[in-house]
Amino acid sequence: MEKIISIKDLNYTYPDAKHPAINNLSLDIYKNEWVSIVGKNGSGKSTLTKLIDGLIEAESGTIAIDGQIINEDNIWEARTKIGIVFQNPDHQFVGATVEDDVAFGLENQGIPRDKMVTEVDEALKLVKMSDFKKRDPQSLSGGQKQRVAIAGVLATKPQIIIMDESTSMLDPDGRRTVLNLVQQLRQEQDLTIISITHDIEETELSQRIVVINDGKIVQDGKPVEIYDLGSNLRKFGLEEPFTNKLISTLGDKLKLPEGYLNEEELKQQLWKLHSIM
Ligand SMILES: Nc1ncnc2c1ncn2[C@@H]1O[C@H](COP(=O)(O)OP(=O)(O)OP(=O)(O)O)[C@@H](O)[C@H]1O
Ligand SMILES: [Mg+2]
Repeated sequence: MEKIISIKDLNYTYPDAKHPAINNLSLDIYKNEWVSIVGKNGSGKSTLTKLIDGLIEAESGTIAIDGQIINEDNIWEARTKIGIVFQNPDHQFVGATVEDDVAFGLENQGIPRDKMVTEVDEALKLVKMSDFKKRDPQSLSGGQKQRVAIAGVLATKPQIIIMDESTSMLDPDGRRTVLNLVQQLRQEQDLTIISITHDIEETELSQRIVVINDGKIVQDGKPVEIYDLGSNLRKFGLEEPFTNKLISTLGDKLKLPEGYLNEEELKQQLWKLHSIM
């Protein structure tokens, strides 16, 4: 597998801060992978995003994007490979209409007008928001806004999309729609996805979960391996998955299989027990 991001011994302390926000962190992310980065408030997730996107400069250590260690001279080129979707899309909207908004990132790249129109249309089609292109972005629902924000990022044709708490303001349905869309786009467009969240429940579609605490990586594994940590996740300020909690409550009374079950699997197990009762 080919590395798309390779971080080595990264350190960063904010001016005047007592403790480092990123503390000797190393992490490799592979092409087309979906990695969730989870950690409690203040654990360093957004700082890591800012370092990867070159918005702040590390004190020591290196970040390679697509094989190139980033520095002052190549950061602009590296940045064209990365698209970031933030938590609150309202802060990212600049255009009067949805299509203006999606075009904004392209205007910065100096793309000719006619090509821009086609690319905006394509990006809106990918997120199924074509019918809304003349609308004022402020008039959309939270989930629709996030889809437009993703279209804006897709239009710039990044290789990597970083979602920093991008679904935390959505209801469960909106969240599922956006995450399923991201999964589909990852597969179709060969994208690498990094999704950042403090909610362990949001990580189910990803292939790998990295847990960060006090600027350090404290766990790195497949989702089932991380979910199996159960109440040990509390050490890092994280809630254990809902199904784990339910299983430990029911566990003594019912015979359930060992190990992590997702909601669907748990439902099936409960039905099975129900039918033999
Ligand atoms: N601009 C800043 N100046 C000084 N300290 C900062 C600044 N931004 C963040 N920090 C500190 O750096 C640490 C890491 O913050 P960061 O924003 O990366 O956390 P996070 O994991 O993204 O948290 P959240 O889940 O709340 O978004 C925290 O201790 C925070 O207080
Ligand atoms: Mg943050």
